[in-house]
Amino acid sequence: MTDTVLALDGIDVSYGSTPILRNIDLSIEAGETVGIMGRNGVGKTTLMKTVIGLLSPTEGTVTYQGEDVTDLPANRRARLGMGYIPQGRDVFPDLTVHQNVRMGRSISDHKSENLVDRVYEYFPRLDERRGQKAGTVSGGEQQMLAIGRALAGNPDLLLFDEPSEGIQPSIVQQITADIGRMSEELGVTVLFVEQNLRVIRELAERCYVIDNGRIETELGATDLEDEEAVANYLAV
Ligand SMILES: Nc1ncnc2c1ncn2[C@@H]1O[C@H](COP(=O)(O)OP(=O)(O)O)[C@@H](O)[C@H]1O
Ligand SMILES: [Mg+2]
Repeated sequence: MTDTVLALDGIDVSYGSTPILRNIDLSIEAGETVGIMGRNGVGKTTLMKTVIGLLSPTEGTVTYQGEDVTDLPANRRARLGMGYIPQGRDVFPDLTVHQNVRMGRSISDHKSENLVDRVYEYFPRLDERRGQKAGTVSGGEQQMLAIGRALAGNPDLLLFDEPSEGIQPSIVQQITADIGRMSEELGVTVLFVEQNLRVIRELAERCYVIDNGRIETELGATDLEDEEAVANYLAV
């Protein structure tokens, strides 16, 4: 008996009358780290927004920890334990780093200070910048903050949309390692979108390839070892 955290069954999503995602089926087991890759504009962000509940599918169901959440809005899904780190980070620029972290904690029922402490334990750079306005810290630090804000909500599932985008390589390495550590130490299940080959190959246990709004193929651990083959899926 497997322990499925997230399942999408026959998901279609449109913007207005334009169909974007077609017949998406995927399933993530507890503790897994699964990637979603694909070129620009194929529907990756649309898929992540559908998982967290910012977009509603026209067909299909989203099941989270055995519960049909298809009709639940994003804030309800967050309370059930989904943490979302949007593409482009989207921190509150005029609030301090610490206020941003506390915003994340407010969705959790626990409200424990430990959750906030844990964020600073994972991201000491945020600790140093607690009192600074979030809009004034570096792109990498804003990404850490977006992750920290989600982590403060005590998630069971973390959803990352291109965490490496627009961030300098040394910080990408750091953030990749931090995501791996969260998965290992906290047992958080991870679903992430990426176009960065190194991040995909370092983190993903398996990976769905999306093209033109459909799941084109699924790559297992052995497939992911072949760097060139994986790179071909991202080639324009
Ligand atoms: N709000 C929107 N309204 C209409 N079309 C959109 C909207 N957002 C994205 N799209 C279109 O949907 C397609 C998929 O976009 P997106 O999911 O952002 O792709 P990806 O994240 O893979 O780059 C693209 O063709 C994009 O132009
Ligand atoms: Mg995107």
